[in-house]
Amino acid sequence: MCGIFAVVNDTSHHAARTTLEGLKKLEYRGYDSWGVAVVPTASQKSKVSAKGGSAYGRKSLKSKNQIVIKKKIGKIGEATVDDMPSGDIAIGHTRWATHGGVTDENAHPHMDCSGRFVVIHNGIVENYQELKQSLLKKKHTFHSETDTEVIAHLIEDRSKEMSVEQAVLMVFKELVGSNAIGVLDGHTGTIVACRNGSPLSIGVGKEQYFLASDVTAFLGHTQDVQFLEDGEAVVMTPSGVKLLDIASGKEKKLALTHLDWKVTDAQKGGYPHFTLKEIMEQVVTVPKTALVNRTEMETIGAMVKQSTRIVLIGCGTAAYCALASQYFFAQVGREAKSYGAYEYLPFAGFSDTKTIVFAISQSGETADTLIAARAAKKNGAYLVAVVNARVSTLERMADVVLPVGAGPEISVVSTKAFTSQLASMYLVTRMCAGKYEEAVNNVKTLGELLAGWQTKKLLGEVLDVAKLLMSQEDMYVIGKHMSYPAALEFALKIKESSYIHSEPFAAGELKHGVITLIQKGTPCFAIGASDETKLELLSSAAQLKARGGTIIGVAPYASSEFDIHIATPDAGPLTIIPNVIVGQLLGYYLGIGRGTDPDKPRNLAKSVTVK
Ligand code: F6R
Repeated sequence: MCGIFAVVNDTSHHAARTTLEGLKKLEYRGYDSWGVAVVPTASQKSKVSAKGGSAYGRKSLKSKNQIVIKKKIGKIGEATVDDMPSGDIAIGHTRWATHGGVTDENAHPHMDCSGRFVVIHNGIVENYQELKQSLLKKKHTFHSETDTEVIAHLIEDRSKEMSVEQAVLMVFKELVGSNAIGVLDGHTGTIVACRNGSPLSIGVGKEQYFLASDVTAFLGHTQDVQFLEDGEAVVMTPSGVKLLDIASGKEKKLALTHLDWKVTDAQKGGYPHFTLKEIMEQVVTVPKTALVNRTEMETIGAMVKQSTRIVLIGCGTAAYCALASQYFFAQVGREAKSYGAYEYLPFAGFSDTKTIVFAISQSGETADTLIAARAAKKNGAYLVAVVNARVSTLERMADVVLPVGAGPEISVVSTKAFTSQLASMYLVTRMCAGKYEEAVNNVKTLGELLAGWQTKKLLGEVLDVAKLLMSQEDMYVIGKHMSYPAALEFALKIKESSYIHSEPFAAGELKHGVITLIQKGTPCFAIGASDETKLELLSSAAQLKARGGTIIGVAPYASSEFDIHIATPDAGPLTIIPNVIVGQLLGYYLGIGRGTDPDKPRNLAKSVTVK
């Protein structure tokens, strides 16, 4: 939900370009528009044009630094800022629109009336209408329909009576909602950033300082990071970085974390898209789960034994992992209940000190998941964060963290994080049943099976099916028991990546209504595993076939019911993983064929930090 980036003391002296490069790594957070603001170096000030078009400053400020902004709708991929002046301080933003349409005017950064301040923002200012009315009465002029612009004018207003640092903190406290802001003061070349509910990290290099929604944006410059907590602010000037407590205004000690992430983790590594790279990485990321987190799993296993209620929550793909984990728990004789986190609140009252809640999230920043986790914790539940991205809000809230270790997932569409979460949850449930060593071996074996199967041959097979289905507008996906969450995730991958309507059903649900939708030639995927569901799945496939459906079996076994068969490795209860990988690949190739950008599907953002 919007990406924030800023640099102070840029050593290349083209801070706008550094910012643009940083924003390109954050584009997955929003791609409705982008914008960069730079404080030109002194020698350039006189050359700065105040004209309209792409680069402009609002007013000519003769004695002070005039901030120059370039902002545009559309994707940042081909954007350049070579026409912007050089400078050592810049701030930028990629937008996922919430308030105000997708227009150049609504793109961030937003400026106050004087031209002294520009603001970038991730979140929603829930009380912005009321704040705007008070500013309009004071004759402030607005140039956008966004909630963000209100912040710039409020800072202009408050800074008349106090320092800019104090004004930013005071204004931030007036904002209702989950927000992260970055404010650039063109007079002093200072950046003040505040966090409450939306992620912000500070990169501290030898000479340069960075601000970003996600560390991957500045990993190429520094690996020393200060993760801001809710209620913290940072003041970045050419002479250093200062951490502040927003409530008291008091300075806090920086506590830098050195990340061992490699820059290459956030690059495409020769693949045309992050999506394909991340799908192929599963050969490594899935078996890796068997080598890590043993201590955490022991702690969780002991807590599960003491608990009378097991709850699993997540959103989207993570909700399907929660559902699959419900089956994993059932397999070891424990009843668990999964919820889409956005539907959990009516049931949160049932959680107590004997409840263990698994909150599953790639980002650890999904607003609905955080709200649900907070509600359960308030009633005394023990919280396990099953996360991929590190040092997230969810992680900080949790009693124990299970980092699934798939590495940075850049594509908006979740792939490798999902399968690492699944494998980790499988291991957790087996730890609870005293079968951890056996499970570790099963995950390692799955790694070997994936390595032998995820080859060019498989890509060719899936591509052929994608070509066959390219012009279809409706598809159906069925699965039973463990293959039901597989069907849900399979269908979601097709929808997200290719925009084709693909609807998942529990195989048993078919005859209760859904079957009316099947006509001659309707593509129907039957997702199967070599378990107790085989015969029932095949009889459901036969019912679809009898109504004219074209049956594409995705299973470790062949059948005469399948018109087409994509064979997957038999990995017992873990067969869900290769079965879903077929859906990931199919979605990817269908998307490519239909001209979508699989890394950045329309209307989506990687971390959904709003309710
Ligand atoms: C699907 C997808 C989304 C996320 C969902 C939760 O490909 O990416 O459905 O799974 O928004 O996000 P996290 O896991 O970050 O909580």
